[in-house]
Amino acid sequence: MSETRSGGLVGWIDDRFPLTKMWREHVSEYYAPKNFNFWYYFGSLALLTLVIQVVSGIFLTMNYIPSGDRAFESVEYIMRDVEWGWLIRYIHTTGASAFFVVVYLHMFRALMYGSYQKPRELLWIFGCLIFVLLMAEAFMGYMLPWGQMSYWGGQVIISLFGAIPVIGPDLALWIRGDYVISEATLNRFFALHVVAVPLVIIFLVVAHILALHEVGSNNPDGIDIKKNKDANGIPKDGIPFHPYYTVKDLIGVGVYFILFSVVVFYIPDFWGMFIEHPNFEEANPQVTPDHIAPVWYFAAYYAILRAIPDTFGGVLAMGLAVMILFVLPWLDRGKVRSIRYRGLSFKIALGIFAVGFMLLTYLGTQPATGLNTMLSRLGTVIYFGYFIFLFVYTAFGLERTKPVPERVTS
Ligand code: HEM
Repeated sequence: MSETRSGGLVGWIDDRFPLTKMWREHVSEYYAPKNFNFWYYFGSLALLTLVIQVVSGIFLTMNYIPSGDRAFESVEYIMRDVEWGWLIRYIHTTGASAFFVVVYLHMFRALMYGSYQKPRELLWIFGCLIFVLLMAEAFMGYMLPWGQMSYWGGQVIISLFGAIPVIGPDLALWIRGDYVISEATLNRFFALHVVAVPLVIIFLVVAHILALHEVGSNNPDGIDIKKNKDANGIPKDGIPFHPYYTVKDLIGVGVYFILFSVVVFYIPDFWGMFIEHPNFEEANPQVTPDHIAPVWYFAAYYAILRAIPDTFGGVLAMGLAVMILFVLPWLDRGKVRSIRYRGLSFKIALGIFAVGFMLLTYLGTQPATGLNTMLSRLGTVIYFGYFIFLFVYTAFGLERTKPVPERVTS
């Protein structure tokens, strides 16, 4: 790093705060592999979505009222009377689903290119923690409009905690703050959704990026670019993040904004998938909706829950389905990272896993008929089967890999 110091205001700040130093370390002199592809757009898009959610959320909070009597009405007021309120709300509801689209693709990239493998285990764990908190954040946010689905969806999910032996009933009571879902529940979910959980998510995102910059980015070839440096100590296959990737990411941002706007302006409820139709009716503790279904991004895990006949077994399976992600770096003992150089069975298994996950997502939104339950069981076996297969396949040396090139391919 050169020692030139800026004059003027920047120089004044630099004497007191590491502004230029941080900019260099994390942006202009952060060397990222030069072969990033389509799949590498989603990290920056996740960051952008986080900002969209925080900003639109602040404006919603200005007019939302977290009270059992007035929550639903205040959302109607935002939609009809607050200037641009409808836009802010639809940005926030679309942003919630967009967040999961982006994060699921971001995670899938990590599965394809082995980005969770050594030395990126902690980076991956920070990601998994973000994922869990994002689910909690979305769940609590969905309660706030106090519509039929907010109420009854909340009822179903919180009562699941009640199925845990011994502590279950007390735990569910503690979460609700009441014997049934009530204003006490709404108030605490509001506090957690607006302040506590976003703060922790932001903290974890910072940790996620610091961990990434400590070990360096992986890439579609899964090659360690730090092994090949020039005389100045710069990776030969690296390019400065700025301007190369800031500009490239702007293309992703442009496409993302177009798709986002199409949803916000033309299909804000996304045919009942982003905002479910029963949620246009106020919560009524006396009337259960015909069909209680989770929002699409929870549906795969909900299908796993319903695949097991016993409620506690279902809760356990659902919890395990998320927890198993945390230990993935230790289950996969593969010698190469990227799918490009991995064995054929790995490619097939990952393909089946992706299809199985989409199947579970579909089934989680459908009524639990006999056929759907059977298919959910198949999906559940595929889901867990992937992790078990990966361990057996790699730990017992069954994988036939291709030679990994010395330098990245373009
Ligand atoms: C708010 C949510 C998240 C944000 C803002 C975020 C942000 C980022 C950014 C900016 C990058 C670098 C750019 C890129 O590689 O695409 C990155 C990399 C990465 N993220 Fe995330 N992330 C989030 C959630 C997650 C989750 C849920 C996981 C996994 C469970 C995850 C796992 C990873 C991994 C493994 C990498 C390194 C990828 C590589 O170098 O190949 N992230 N993340």
